[in-house]
Amino acid sequence: MKKLIELDINGRLYEVAVNDRDLLLDVIRKKAGLFGTKKGCGEGDCGACTVLIDGKPELACLKLAIACQGKKITTVEGLIQEGGALHPIQQAFVDHGAVQCGFCTPGMIMSAKGLLDRNPKPTLYDIKHELSGNICRCTGYKRIIEAVQAAAEVWSKEGVK
Ligand code: FES
Ligand code: FES
Repeated sequence: MKKLIELDINGRLYEVAVNDRDLLLDVIRKKAGLFGTKKGCGEGDCGACTVLIDGKPELACLKLAIACQGKKITTVEGLIQEGGALHPIQQAFVDHGAVQCGFCTPGMIMSAKGLLDRNPKPTLYDIKHELSGNICRCTGYKRIIEAVQAAAEVWSKEGVK
């Protein structure tokens, strides 16, 4: 039997009917209509579904939606700035050619956001370590890492959130 729950996604409350076993990833995509978060493996191996939950990168394919009530969920759509500008991390991915097919990109960006929020001056090792759960089949990672380094520079100068 379905239950009516409220989820705070990108600062907006969504009232959704869910079963106990419905996954956060499916609710974000199918019920909230936010298709930026991608479904890759569906079993915790690829990072494509990474979102922030209370500021921490988490895999939405491994979370029950019902367990996310009362938490603040942020998807890649939630990073868009007032007026519609891209977030500096998103802009850095564009500027550094870090997007090819784009399937991994939302998850990469959300992992990077989680990292820069807690560590605005990451080392190369910190970036590689943080992104180690995000798989990209296209780019070879070099440009993605360069994009995160560039975003970190903007971040530490301008204190971007
Ligand atoms: S879809 Fe969640 S880790 Fe692959
Ligand atoms: S850009 Fe295609 S999977 Fe990363």
